[in-house]
Amino acid sequence: MTMRIADRISRLGTETAFAVGAEAAAWAAQGNAVYPFHLGDLNLPTPSTVVEGSFAAIKLGKTGYCPNAGIPELREAIALDVSASHGVDYTMENVVVQPGGKPTIGKFIMALMNPGDEVLYPNPGYPIYESQIEFHGGTAVPYGYTEGENGFELDFDGIEHAITDKTTLFILNDLQNPMGAELSAEERARLAALILKHDLYLLSDEAYFDMRYAGRSRSIVEEPGMAERTIVLYTFSKKFAMTGWRLGASIGPKEIVDIIAKINVNDESCSNHFIQHGAVAGLTGDQTEVLAILDTLHARRDAAVALLNDIEGVKCFSPDATFYLWPNVTEAMAIKGMNEYDEFRQAALHATGVSFCTRLHFGRPVPGETQKYIRFAYSGIDVPDIEEGLAGLKAWIEA
Ligand SMILES: Cc1ncc(COP(=O)(O)O)c(C=O)c1O
Repeated sequence: MTMRIADRISRLGTETAFAVGAEAAAWAAQGNAVYPFHLGDLNLPTPSTVVEGSFAAIKLGKTGYCPNAGIPELREAIALDVSASHGVDYTMENVVVQPGGKPTIGKFIMALMNPGDEVLYPNPGYPIYESQIEFHGGTAVPYGYTEGENGFELDFDGIEHAITDKTTLFILNDLQNPMGAELSAEERARLAALILKHDLYLLSDEAYFDMRYAGRSRSIVEEPGMAERTIVLYTFSKKFAMTGWRLGASIGPKEIVDIIAKINVNDESCSNHFIQHGAVAGLTGDQTEVLAILDTLHARRDAAVALLNDIEGVKCFSPDATFYLWPNVTEAMAIKGMNEYDEFRQAALHATGVSFCTRLHFGRPVPGETQKYIRFAYSGIDVPDIEEGLAGLKAWIEA
């Protein structure tokens, strides 16, 4: 019997990076060493404040349904945290809690996009934007970054060219996965002006806002007029090493937050009750273990960047934030006589055990791309393995 599947499913994308993980696991199962640089996950424990706070809540019986928008204590704690870091006065009315940051993407689109609308999204970028826009009947319009002297810069020419009278939404991911890109103050102001001029709503995906090793993160919602038209994607996944716990929030104008809470009622009723109490403990308690996560990642970044730049044909920036590197490997691939990403990725895995994602995992490639990039995540691999893996990669590329 042929299943009659709904048409919209043909428009639903996925995260093909998970397939890279499966290939690496299969290679490891055959007895090979694998150096996992493909994971956007952490091999570090969740801080004990969160763990103990969650256990305490279970013991207190916080195991039933709770409000669809999240428990008031957590909404308030998130509002305080984000108001302080963003220079905006958010209250709990501006916060709706969800199982992770990811749900914010689809719910933002459901709340604000009509079929036929055009939505600008970063490409290379997190692949779920493209998937959710198209699934809900919108047109996904990519914009990119260019390689500058010291890092990646927003391609304003491309953005201005791409905005039409059908454009209604803009998706920004600053600090950016996979590139580690970060907007300068000038870029933030210029982008905010464009968004205002064209009367767009903005999703500011700030999944990596707190994953920072130097300086201070700034959000585009600080720009005049932006908080009124922006939903911030907030998550506990990265800062608190809680990817599997599933807890995050959408933050923005009450009118949109209320719609997202209504979607919650329809989708999941509420987020996990006792974990929300654990998250309050994490936000308000001792930060020593949270800061230790950053120290660990900082050392990994320094090791990985230095070793990658020491490989012939590889050029890699050292982003101050996220836990991703986006080295340009155009020359390295040429040295190996390879033009196809999958060929290069699989050959590297089989020759060296080094597993990474490529440009292909971050949105449909845009016509005219000439440079080749791969993504290294250092969130799931310790420094000794970074050193061993990248020594092998260097030997293989330079052989
Ligand atoms: C850019 C970006 N946004 C959102 C998410 C979603 O994270 P989560 O749903 O675990 O909070 C991720 C996860 O990797 C991400 O990289």
